[in-house]
Amino acid sequence: MDEEKLEQLVHEADRVVPRPTPKEFFRKQPHKSLENISDYERLYKESIENPDGFFGKMAHKFLSWDRDFDKVSWGSFEQGDVAWFLGGKLNACYNCVDRHAFAHPDKPAIIFEADDEKESRILTFKDLLQQVCQVAELLASWGIKKGDIVAIYLPMTPEALIAMLACVRIGALHSCIFAGFSAGSIKERVFDAHSKVVITCDEGKRGGKITHAKQILNEALKECPEVEKVLVYKRTGNPKVEMVEGRDFWWQKECEQFRGYFPPVPVDSEDPLFILYTSGSTGTPKGVVHCTAGYLLGAAMTTRYVFDLQPEDTLFTAGDVGWITGHTYSLYGPLVLGVPTIVFEGTPAYPDMGRFWKIVEKYKATHFYVAPTALRMLKKSGEAEIDKYDLSSLRTLGSVGEPIASEIWKWYDEKIGHGCCHIADTYWQTESGSHLIAPLAGAVPTKPGAATLPFFGIDAVIIDPQTGKVLEGNDVEGVLAVRSPWPSMARTVYQCHQRFLNAYLRPYPGFYFTGDGAGRDHDGYYWIKGRVDDVVNVSGHRLSTGEIEAVLLESKKVSESAVVGIGDDLTGQAVIAAVQLKDSHLVHDAETMIALRKELRLLVRKVIGPFAAPKSIIIVDDLPKTRSGKIIRRILRKVCSGEAKSIGDTSTMANPHVIVNLVSEVEQQF
Ligand code: PRX
Repeated sequence: MDEEKLEQLVHEADRVVPRPTPKEFFRKQPHKSLENISDYERLYKESIENPDGFFGKMAHKFLSWDRDFDKVSWGSFEQGDVAWFLGGKLNACYNCVDRHAFAHPDKPAIIFEADDEKESRILTFKDLLQQVCQVAELLASWGIKKGDIVAIYLPMTPEALIAMLACVRIGALHSCIFAGFSAGSIKERVFDAHSKVVITCDEGKRGGKITHAKQILNEALKECPEVEKVLVYKRTGNPKVEMVEGRDFWWQKECEQFRGYFPPVPVDSEDPLFILYTSGSTGTPKGVVHCTAGYLLGAAMTTRYVFDLQPEDTLFTAGDVGWITGHTYSLYGPLVLGVPTIVFEGTPAYPDMGRFWKIVEKYKATHFYVAPTALRMLKKSGEAEIDKYDLSSLRTLGSVGEPIASEIWKWYDEKIGHGCCHIADTYWQTESGSHLIAPLAGAVPTKPGAATLPFFGIDAVIIDPQTGKVLEGNDVEGVLAVRSPWPSMARTVYQCHQRFLNAYLRPYPGFYFTGDGAGRDHDGYYWIKGRVDDVVNVSGHRLSTGEIEAVLLESKKVSESAVVGIGDDLTGQAVIAAVQLKDSHLVHDAETMIALRKELRLLVRKVIGPFAAPKSIIIVDDLPKTRSGKIIRRILRKVCSGEAKSIGDTSTMANPHVIVNLVSEVEQQF
């Protein structure tokens, strides 16, 4: 987010009076989770002062246990040995499927809205149990057992959720790989996790187009010798899709041989549930590890209290299981509460801009959850497509993944919620497992653009990055950290605990460091300002600038590369790359430069994925550097954001003359 917008947000905070949950919200839902701010304050205080008592109670309220736990919490940030619900045994799949299938077999569990509306279908809890059991038994027959990591490369279809649940049913971990990732990223993840089995589909459908999951996976698996078997869901049935004999098997055909019940394997509370790779500021993506009981409890509690999701509701999370939002709020949160989840395969713009609203009307969704980037696009496209639909079923509207500007918040509230909904801007991360800071429905008054107050058990602090000291009181700004462990936090980075410690627990000893800047206003409300490290957030997708730089350097023509994120009206942030060429004479040939830009953009698309491709590539004969030869990204960011005049001190630069060149390149490109 650019600085001007930030200033705007902070000033907004001074003026805005928090708005209580609209009365209409309560009219639509008489069984309230929480009634007012005092409810929140009382429970929050208890969760901080007596976390063991509080979370022990919650763990019994929300989860079914095969064996009760002996100790609620253990370990510390100092030691990096956090653990919850020790001695307990449970199975996450049982909690999400079996217990609801036994109580309400015919209740919808997954409402699948296909890209092509005609292919939509509904799976009841009974159907889900049967289909999950078949895949679980198949995986077990292939030798997959507790602790193994199964890679899942599937688009947003019921099969993605079924595959995930089948893994956890037998104690295996899933490692979902976003369907927008290309071969290079898949290879890296499958390889790192030593996955022996990958689950995918032949092709996908998205926005009226075909996506080529199996073909991309085939490419990736050329360099993954450990993969023994691939399970392929036949989605389109294109006969041209290449299957490797002895390695690849059709999902539908293999599952036919199993009867549809296979017992869940109880695991320890602290046994890992899944890994999910995410970008950090350094090195390759980190395989963030979440453990069973704590994660599941965080998913259940936040879904109930932040959204007020009740058994008779329907949640439509317009996210993807390739990211954490899809894990926690498309799958685990709603299903652990026994609430139907809408799984949407398509895009908000296909066949027209009314698609989300049509889905809300069709299934009478009570809850809708999306990233601001989609809201910005839909706001731009006008109101005609919104007014066509009856959105009166909606009660909670959530936002996730990036700061939501106040004008978008207000538009969401007025145009989609008609002033009757609870608007929840939810701040959290892959590593936190579930919401960290968010307004609890019915209890916490909201302010447009603010993430508001911390969730139960989250002892949020603002730290002065210069001194490392906690800033007490209100009206402060700094970096956001958490003082004590919470149940759904990640426990480690797969096979590299040092990386976990270095990234999150060492920067400010005794605290968990989020990587985000934040302010706390005069009401004690939190305003998130975005990353303070080298992570960029494009349309809610988290990317590491370092990873993109490394890909650009793979080109034989590039000698140096620097990538920055700058503010973008539509995507929140946009990736801008600057490259220096090995042969600097090439810079003067305009046509070669056009071709090279195309080539480099394609390279990033191919290696990481289309969503990571730089919006602009600036080709220069020299990059701004310090005297010791380090690239100064700050200068690049300023120039690309149109703030060349406020670059400030350049006395430490080895080559200040390059700025003029950079500015003129940027002017030509933007
Ligand atoms: O910078 C914050 C931003 O997204 C980062 C986490 O990204 P990821 O792990 O991919 O998870 C995204 C979905 C939870 C955070 O460090 N972020 C997330 N939610 C918000 C946000 N920034 C501002 N406001 C939010 N509500």
